[in-house]
Amino acid sequence: MTWHEWREAPAGDYAVIGDPVSHSRSPAMHAAAYRELGLDLTYRAIRGPRDEIVQALDHLAALGYKGLNVTVPLKDLAFAWADRPEATVSVNTLCLGSRTGISTDEEGFVRSLPEDLRGPVPTLILGAGGTAQALARRLIRDGRLLQVWNRTPARWDGFLAEHPGAIQVAEPDPAGCRLIINATSAGLSGESPPVLWDRIAPDALAVDLVYGRRTPFLEQAEAAGVATLDGT
Ligand code: ATR
Repeated sequence: MTWHEWREAPAGDYAVIGDPVSHSRSPAMHAAAYRELGLDLTYRAIRGPRDEIVQALDHLAALGYKGLNVTVPLKDLAFAWADRPEATVSVNTLCLGSRTGISTDEEGFVRSLPEDLRGPVPTLILGAGGTAQALARRLIRDGRLLQVWNRTPARWDGFLAEHPGAIQVAEPDPAGCRLIINATSAGLSGESPPVLWDRIAPDALAVDLVYGRRTPFLEQAEAAGVATLDGT
């Protein structure tokens, strides 16, 4: 797929920015939507490394881009760039003119779940980074019984102080949960959190938020006989 380094990007209307960006499906999805709606707009893929992201966003705004989708690993920096972020830690969508940022990831995640898992079902989240905490906030709003685990437990302290209903578990033990979400980045380095797979319920769903690849977590879930979903 065609993509541009941010300094060499031609003027345009909308774009996705990431690093890497060549794997993004956003240009194809937006081109199809524009065609369907009869809109004469351009949508490009642009690479911007983390240490140049502020200059890249300012440059694209000056070039006349109206909005950007922001992908990994730039979402926290896009949040910092926005003057009016309507999210807590990261954003995936920027309106460049108003410097507004929003995150549609958490809502998109909930909508991607099978209907019977969208309600308040017992859920275990693994990891405690920005992705895990933003999703935990969204899920707890539905009244879910939420269990959280992280390799470094103290990273959940602030969240637990704000949300006393959530329970921190000492081991990644899925017993009693219908949904187990791997929000760690372990899959990116070919690893998996040490889930106690022999304790998972047969009707549970295991989800890895890592995008577009079979992670060891998903392979182990399959071997344990439960349904799986990747982060696509
Ligand atoms: P993001 O903003 O995408 O959530 P992050 O803040 O780097 O990314 O968080 C990555 C998460 O993956 C952390 O919870 C990290 O655990 P630590 O807080 O203990 O560092 C977790 N993680 C990364 N590699 C892991 C591994 N091999 N096993 C278990 N957890 C891992």
